[in-house]
Amino acid sequence: MDLEAFAARLSALRERALQAVAATADPPSLEGVEATFLGRKGELRALLGGIGGLPPEDRPRVGALANPIREELEGAVALRRERLGSIALEVRLAGERQDVSLPGRPLRRGSLHPLVETEREIARFFGRYGFVVYESPEVETDELNFEALNIPADHPARDLWDTIYVRPSAGPEGTDGEQSQDTARLLLRTHTSPGQIRAMREMSPPMRVLTPGRCFRYEAVDASHGSEFFQVEGLMVDEGTSMAHLRGLLDEFAHAMFGAARATRFRPGYYPFTEPSVAFDIACVSCEGTGCPACGRSGWMTILGAGMVHPVVLRNGGIDPERYQGFAFGMGVDRIAMLRFGISDLRVFLADDLRFLERF
Ligand code: DAH
Repeated sequence: MDLEAFAARLSALRERALQAVAATADPPSLEGVEATFLGRKGELRALLGGIGGLPPEDRPRVGALANPIREELEGAVALRRERLGSIALEVRLAGERQDVSLPGRPLRRGSLHPLVETEREIARFFGRYGFVVYESPEVETDELNFEALNIPADHPARDLWDTIYVRPSAGPEGTDGEQSQDTARLLLRTHTSPGQIRAMREMSPPMRVLTPGRCFRYEAVDASHGSEFFQVEGLMVDEGTSMAHLRGLLDEFAHAMFGAARATRFRPGYYPFTEPSVAFDIACVSCEGTGCPACGRSGWMTILGAGMVHPVVLRNGGIDPERYQGFAFGMGVDRIAMLRFGISDLRVFLADDLRFLERF
């Protein structure tokens, strides 16, 4: 081999190597190409190894020919390595790209439960007359649910209000046995009326409170009776409070909830905690008063019980009945909601059925 032949083979090697480098698609194949041409057992070494056949005076020129080409090839490999790295990054980024301009998945908009909506509507109405919401517990003492409301242990009205008794977590021995006469005994409240006693003991007249909430009864469940239901209780205590105030307020309430032309009436009623007591009726929302099955053909529907707070109850609340008078009323939120929305079975309220709830 003479110097010319060596130069020709060197130049051919350079061509092939550059092409091979340019054709690589990923780092491992580039490593392979690098080894093939520039490695310890690569083609360039092999070519240089063959210069033994050159005349001695040409040998110094070998380095001058070969070194720039080695450098050029090393440079091409380095450049390609860098390029392949950025291609890999681009590919990865393209795969992970997120289009932040895409609209998000729509959140399903919920709505208020019809009982909550009705309770708020009631609270809004009475709020305009200065009544503030006073929350009172669902687990109540026998004393507040019954005794303080003038319903002693042997009172027949207790049958109406039978409920579930709660045994406090087992205390010292012997304390969770027979305690039927114990007024500290806990129960699930049967009405929101115990809130009256709590409010009277906490505040002082003049006062106007609304105590809304869940109530419980031992009840044979049907379309109009639930063992869990909701009430809103109202209580006003002040000097000179009279039945006329109660009548006027409830009339306004009935007109706000059921239309300004709705006829209303007071009927005598009985509750141990009010004297006198009344039932408050509105003209039937189905037949407008002519009589139909919905109102038992009477033309009237009772929406709440009310009356002047019994002096015993005022005293139990720490209020002097000689100086102050009060009126109270209690209504079933379920019943009001049924009348407003034309629902005939109250069991739907607590059935958690979306087909029903989504209509509100
Ligand atoms: N607590 C009664 C019930 O659940 C309703 C009631 C009647 C409440 C008359 C009152 C009232 O405050 O004055 O049946």
